[in-house]
Amino acid sequence: MVHTSPTAVAEIRDVLQSHVTTDSAHTEADAIRRLGDSEYSVVIIDFKPPIDAKRIVSETIAAQPDAFIVLMTPDLDSGRELDVSLSGKVFRFLAGPDQRWQLTGIVAEGLRLQKLERDQKELIKKLSLEYGKLQRREKLLDVVVKERTKELQVAYDRLKAASRQALLGLAEAIEAKDPYTKGHCGRTAVFATALGREARLSESDMEVLEFGAFLHDIGKIGIRDSVLLKPGALDDEEWKHMKVHPVVGYQIAAQLDMLKPMMACIRNHHERWDGSGYPDKLKGEDIPLLARIVCLGDAYDAMATDRPYKKAIPMDECKKILRRQAGPQFDPDLVELFIKAEIMEAFA
Ligand SMILES: [Fe+2]
Repeated sequence: MVHTSPTAVAEIRDVLQSHVTTDSAHTEADAIRRLGDSEYSVVIIDFKPPIDAKRIVSETIAAQPDAFIVLMTPDLDSGRELDVSLSGKVFRFLAGPDQRWQLTGIVAEGLRLQKLERDQKELIKKLSLEYGKLQRREKLLDVVVKERTKELQVAYDRLKAASRQALLGLAEAIEAKDPYTKGHCGRTAVFATALGREARLSESDMEVLEFGAFLHDIGKIGIRDSVLLKPGALDDEEWKHMKVHPVVGYQIAAQLDMLKPMMACIRNHHERWDGSGYPDKLKGEDIPLLARIVCLGDAYDAMATDRPYKKAIPMDECKKILRRQAGPQFDPDLVELFIKAEIMEAFA
């Protein structure tokens, strides 16, 4: 406490000393020195000349920013003016000696509030530390997740490459059984994927289309060699047998998870737009889009290449046939896209 009167200081000490440790100064210089030397929770300042209360309050704020300031002044208005000029740092005002009895309560309140403030600061500090730890953990987790994702991507790419090899091996097995159509599966896939890209298929559909086209005739594995390899025209019974290959292929694909997405291409690549195809006699847009695309690629390659029983048809003639069959056999929009995008010319 800062007070000019030793008697007043003694009285105040009497009020407080059974509750808290007190210290006192009778001059400004003494008060400022003590403020720099020790730590105080509550600073009681007597606002009475010659003590420059404004200076002491400023020094207290600078030296003891957490201390509560109690200003004792007989003139509360000048005390409040002083407080406003100091940005409201004064905790309580006391009007004069007859209110000193209130000091115990005010100091106790100040100390309690100070403890609350300290606890709050401690909590904020702890929370910031925890938050920092959490952020570091999150960063670490992020690195681990990225690392794991990369590993998974590598594993997935390997698996995909292995599946691709297995599927290409299957396509080769079909061609090994029917050497007259050597390269037909690959060419059908080239035409179908070029058309699929023009039709703006999604990446996943493009992947299914590529393998669906490669493997569309997988069911020919189940066709008798005498029918499959016959160089001439097939009779009715032979055609009937040949026409089961989409269903045989479908049954094979249904057994293997990696072929399941391609089942529509395998089963429905001989459906016709007018509904007179096989095996399900699907019509128009009921025929799955990927199967319609494979159908067009398959038919064009069959027309455009030499077979033991026929010569390749020239490109212009192929275009005429495709346009003529747009509607009865093929999806008319796909035929237009196929011709307009010059896919035949690109792979001639
Ligand atoms: Fe076929």
